[in-house]
Amino acid sequence: DTGCFTYDPGFTSTANCSSGITFIDGDKGELLYRGYSIDELAENSNFLAICYLLLHGELPTNEEFKTFRNTISRHTMVHEQMTKFFTGFRRDGHPMAIMVGVVGALSAFYHDSTDINDPEQRQTASYRMIAKMPTIAAMAYKYSIGQPFIYPRNDLDYTSNFLQMCFSVPCEPYIVNPVVARALDRIFILHADHEQNASTSTVRLAGSSGANPFACIAAGIACLWGPAHGGANEAALNMLEEIGTVDRIPEYIEKAKDKSSGFRLMGFGHRVYKNYDPRAKVMQKTCHEVLDALDKRNEPLLKVAMELERIALEDEYFVQKKLYPNIDFYSGITLRAIGFPVSMFTVLFAVARTVGWIAQWKEMIEDPEQKIGRPRQLYIGPPRRPFPKA
Ligand code: SDX
Repeated sequence: DTGCFTYDPGFTSTANCSSGITFIDGDKGELLYRGYSIDELAENSNFLAICYLLLHGELPTNEEFKTFRNTISRHTMVHEQMTKFFTGFRRDGHPMAIMVGVVGALSAFYHDSTDINDPEQRQTASYRMIAKMPTIAAMAYKYSIGQPFIYPRNDLDYTSNFLQMCFSVPCEPYIVNPVVARALDRIFILHADHEQNASTSTVRLAGSSGANPFACIAAGIACLWGPAHGGANEAALNMLEEIGTVDRIPEYIEKAKDKSSGFRLMGFGHRVYKNYDPRAKVMQKTCHEVLDALDKRNEPLLKVAMELERIALEDEYFVQKKLYPNIDFYSGITLRAIGFPVSMFTVLFAVARTVGWIAQWKEMIEDPEQKIGRPRQLYIGPPRRPFPKA
C-alpha cells in the first residue's frame, strides 16, 4: 500500500486518480520521485536526469542521458515569429501573464504535430515543452527589462544555458558561477513535480478533454500564478521585505494568528505536509550556499526569515495547526541573490514544474481507463420552482 488513492472507475473526475510518478507522505514529510527521495536526488543528480526519470520512470544510463540531453538541446529555440508575440505585451506586464500567453501560443505553432494519440508526437511535444520553457521564460524577463533576447547555446547544460539567456547581453557574456548553476539546478529538481497539486490537477483536467498539450500547460501556468500556490515565493519575499527587521516579527506572528486579519505567513503551511516540507530543508541549505558563494551571507532578509521560522516553530498556534515552512519560504531570498527580480520567481517555478505537468499529462493520456474529468458538486441552490405568472 503506497498510500496513493486507488482509482475508482465510477469516479468520473480526475480529482481522484492513480499515479506512479510522485509520492508524498504529508505526516512524515517525505517526497519521492519514482521511489527516490527528494534529498538524495537533489544531492546526487541533475535536473535534466530528473526530467528523464519523471517522464520515463527510471534514471537514465549515461548513453540515454546523452541522447536525451542532445534532443532537448535541439528543441530549445522557439520559432522566430514568436519574438513578435512579445511586442503585444506592455513592458510592465507580469512575466507570468506573458508566460500564459506565449506558452498557449505554442499550440498555434505545433498544432499539426501534437496528435496526442501518437506516442512519437506525445514524446516530441513533451520534449519540446521542457526544452522551450527556459527560452520563453528568459525572453519574458528580457522583454520586461528592455534588453534583446539572447539565443540558447548547445554547449551549456540546461541550467547554465537558462542563466546565460537571462543575464548575458550582446556586449558582454554572463560568466556562469558553477555554485549558482548547481544551486539553481537543485532548485529546479525541488520544484519538478508534486503529485496532484492545484496546477497539476488543472493540467490533467484540461488534458482529459484531449486539448493540445501546450494549451494544457498554459492552464497550469495560470493556476500556479496564485499566491496560495506557486505565487507564494514572490509573496513570501514581499512579506519578508515588509517585515524588514527582526524586531517587527512578533507583530506579524500575531497578525497571522488572527484569522480576521486575512493575513497568512507566506511560505508557511501546506495542504498535504503536516510536517516540515522536505524541499524546504534542501532549499534552506541551498540558500546558504548561494549567499556564501556570492559573498551575500549578511543578507538581512535571511536573518528575518530564520528568526521568523524559529519563533513560529515554537509558537503554540503554528505547532497545533502543524504549520511549517514550505518550499517557498527560502526560495525567494536565494533567487533574488542570484539576480532574479521578484516578478520572475513564479516563472522559475513554472520552468521547473513543466516536467511534472507534462509527465502527469502523459501518464493520464496513456491510461486506457482515462475518461474526461468531470468533478461533481453538492447542489445548495434553490429547489425546483415554477416561472412567476405575469
Ligand atoms: C505550494 O499542493 C502542493 O503541493 C503545492 C506546492 C507544490 O509543490 O505544488 O507544494 C507548492 O503551493 C506550497 C504552498 C505555498 N503557499 C503558501 O505558502 C501560502 C501561505 N500558506 C497558505 O495560505 C496555506 O498554508 C495553504 C494555502 C498552503 C494551505 O491552506 P489550508 O488548506 O487552509 O491549510 P490548512 O487546512 O492546513 O490550514 C490549517 C489551519 C487553518 O486554520 P483553521 O481553519 O484550522 O482555523 O492553519 C491556518 C488555516 O487558516 N493556516 C495558516 C497558514 N496556513 C494555514 N495560518 C497562518 N499562516 C499560514 N500560512
